[in-house]
Amino acid sequence: MREGQAQVIHRLDYQAPAFWIATVDLTFDLDPAKTLITAKHAVKRNPAQAHGPLVLLGEELTPLRVLIDGEPVSFRQEGHELIIEAPDRDFELTLRNTCAPEKNTALSGLYTSGGSFFTQCEAEGFRRITYFLDRPDVMAVYTVTLRADKAKYPILLANGNLLEQGDLDGGKHFAKWHDPFPKPSYLFAVVAGDLVAREQRITTRSGKEHLLQVFVRRGDLDKTEHAMNSLIASIIWDEARFNLPLDLERFMVVGVSDFNMGAMENKGLNIFNTSALLASPATATDADFQRIEAIVAHEYFHNWTGNRVTCRDWFQLSLKEGLTVFRDREFSMDMAGSDSARAVQRIQQVRNLRAIQFPEDAGSMAHSVRPDSYTEINNFYTATVYEKGAEVVGMYQTLLGREGFAKGMALYFQRHDGQAVTCDDFAAAMADANPDSPLSTRLEQFKRWYSQPGTPHISARGEYDAAAHRYTLVLSQRNGKATEPQLIPVRMGLVGHEGQALPLQLEGDIEARGTETVLLLEKAEQTFTFINVLVDPTPSLLRGFSAPVLLEDGLSDPELLTLLRFDSDAFNRWEASQRLGLKRILRAVQGGHALQLDHAYLEAMRAVLRHPQLDAAFKAEALRLPDAAYIAEQLEVVDPQAIHASVEAAWDQLAQALRGDWEWAFEAHQVKGGYRPVAEDAGRRALANLALAMLVRESTRTGEPVWPGRAYQQVKDANNMTERFGALAALVNAHAGLADAALSHFHQQFAHEALVVDKWFMLQARAPERDGKVFERAKKLLQHPGFTLKNPNRARSLLVQLCNMNPGAFHRADAGGYVLWAEQVAAMDAINPQLAARLARAMDRWTTLAEPYRGAAQVALQRLAERSSLSNDVREIVTKALE
Ligand code: ARG
Ligand code: ZN
Repeated sequence: MREGQAQVIHRLDYQAPAFWIATVDLTFDLDPAKTLITAKHAVKRNPAQAHGPLVLLGEELTPLRVLIDGEPVSFRQEGHELIIEAPDRDFELTLRNTCAPEKNTALSGLYTSGGSFFTQCEAEGFRRITYFLDRPDVMAVYTVTLRADKAKYPILLANGNLLEQGDLDGGKHFAKWHDPFPKPSYLFAVVAGDLVAREQRITTRSGKEHLLQVFVRRGDLDKTEHAMNSLIASIIWDEARFNLPLDLERFMVVGVSDFNMGAMENKGLNIFNTSALLASPATATDADFQRIEAIVAHEYFHNWTGNRVTCRDWFQLSLKEGLTVFRDREFSMDMAGSDSARAVQRIQQVRNLRAIQFPEDAGSMAHSVRPDSYTEINNFYTATVYEKGAEVVGMYQTLLGREGFAKGMALYFQRHDGQAVTCDDFAAAMADANPDSPLSTRLEQFKRWYSQPGTPHISARGEYDAAAHRYTLVLSQRNGKATEPQLIPVRMGLVGHEGQALPLQLEGDIEARGTETVLLLEKAEQTFTFINVLVDPTPSLLRGFSAPVLLEDGLSDPELLTLLRFDSDAFNRWEASQRLGLKRILRAVQGGHALQLDHAYLEAMRAVLRHPQLDAAFKAEALRLPDAAYIAEQLEVVDPQAIHASVEAAWDQLAQALRGDWEWAFEAHQVKGGYRPVAEDAGRRALANLALAMLVRESTRTGEPVWPGRAYQQVKDANNMTERFGALAALVNAHAGLADAALSHFHQQFAHEALVVDKWFMLQARAPERDGKVFERAKKLLQHPGFTLKNPNRARSLLVQLCNMNPGAFHRADAGGYVLWAEQVAAMDAINPQLAARLARAMDRWTTLAEPYRGAAQVALQRLAERSSLSNDVREIVTKALE
């Protein structure tokens, strides 16, 4: 890890392996200090390479012996390579080595957490367990025997089906597992410990029986019901929507509290961060319930999109991740039910894309969905590969229709089941299954979505010729990070003054297109002429956010107000609300003056809040102001404090001007009866929480005690975490006098619930800054007895929230934020490089900062870069930031 050998890997250098490994037989003698691993592999030469040594990869391992066909052979080690003299034929390789799970704080490979053993092998963790051809195109059938102390580790799990188990001498026992499906090493997993399971037997459509199990620590069983329900729903959905059945007799899910990411799709043995698995009404919010449903589904869906068909190399990561995020989104939308609930999901996806992926795609780590090179693959599990990748998959569906997309999926599995393939293979299946589609003739251009980084900027200008009844729409595209025009599906409609959806007929088209159509923008600039347009229309472009682009349509306030009131597309109604707010914030920031919201805007927001038909969840989204990160992306030079001041002023004015409406909203959206994590109730709670936040903000400003008092009472009395945490957030975010008392009450009540304590840290680290208080508090929390860099959830809940998610607190004129950042990245890097690299990315956009931030950020980056001991993970991030 720290051998100063950072190497850039290039996509075009791909070569098939010199050897294949057909079967793997592993035996683990599990011991936290020193685990012994014995491996037997059936090795086959790739006929294309008839001679030469076998080169295996291993990290942090101690090799004990190497045998070929039972005879000791000579080997040498060079860096992470184990080089073995190999015969020019197929052979059986036996290896013995040890590793040290309890010293493994990087949480990659085999490690311990809470006294149990867990693994994380994606992307390159398997080589930290045993020497191997640790690359996704080497697929083998695994048999695994686990041996361990029976009292300490009563549960022994590995991929696939349980063949045998029994007792051994000396208080030990064993279990032998076999996974019939060939898989790459990154999908390998074992778990051993004192765990308990929720179990459910199900019969799927084909009549097959399956055992589903959710394993957690004793005491957490009451928080597994939602995960089990989500798993069952996912299984049913994938069969119904894509014809993809569960292919194993047993499907296991395990929770672990020390985990670098959300979860991992190991074949038949998914391993989850407890934060992505455990939920009860008392400890988890609506957002947690929703996220858990999505992640359980995501990992389950990987069984086909990732496991049955996997990636040839890591440059293809989005082949499985973009596709699987697309699938879990479709699932979540179907689960949400109503059209409005679906729109709210889409809104949240786009909000997230804009706040995280857009800055990524414009910053120092910008990369294409299928990157061309990397130093550390773990740095490429990014919003671009996942979320932009999912947008790309969504565009296939937009271009092909749902049925055409389903046909493409079917062909993809028909061609590639059991193979390790590329993004090109996926694109080819989509096009070949739909030979008459607009995609098949434009496939090469569409594929620029995989190869070109950067967010395309679309500009739209419309002109109405009242005499000729013609409406001309000129669309153009540019992308500062790429040169070739991309294929951009623009879903759109034209809206009349009274809100009527106007019929669409394009000049040259034989048939009319109804009231909504998808325009294909394929050139740098293109003109679309609509005929028989009887009134001056307002264009509603990019409905449903049909492509991941930045749209500048120059719409006036009256036009935006028309869309906000009338657009048949709920997403674009929301978008109009955001655009109205964004314009005002940008005007204040760019003009260097204090923000003053106008009557028209405030009345429009009041109308949304009071609207008799709109759903509560939609209202909560429409009334929320744009995120600071998205606002920053609109600016050439970014003054984070100016943005922060404008956003805070906007919230204050919304709180003040709509005060009576917020009171009504709070009272009218109380959910009666027991807690249910369903979309409708969650929407009411979201709006009530927003209203309470506004009321507490306004009361704190005026020094009036009633609403802070009510919020404090709700922190104490709420019967669910969504309302309790909403009230706590209202107090903390408003810097109310009762915030401290509420925080300590909350902490006391949940001190034994790690995931809730994470929320407690997170809230304080992410509160809107006021006079440096948030930063000072966060700094103090670093000394809190409950804080540790060793647990990723806890470390993230304080440091990533502060540095990466709270620009108003992080970017300080005294550079204090940057100094703290550099110290903490270095400290974390010595423990867990993957985690440290995530924190390091807080500086991705430093070059656009205004002074004095820019200069100070550069100094902090340079200081960090000068350290000799950085991991490859952090080194790559810091180097790219300084390039
Ligand atoms: N494949 C996992 C998922 O998205 C992510 C695991 C990545 N882990 C890592 N350390 N890079 O479901
Ligand atoms: Zn995934």
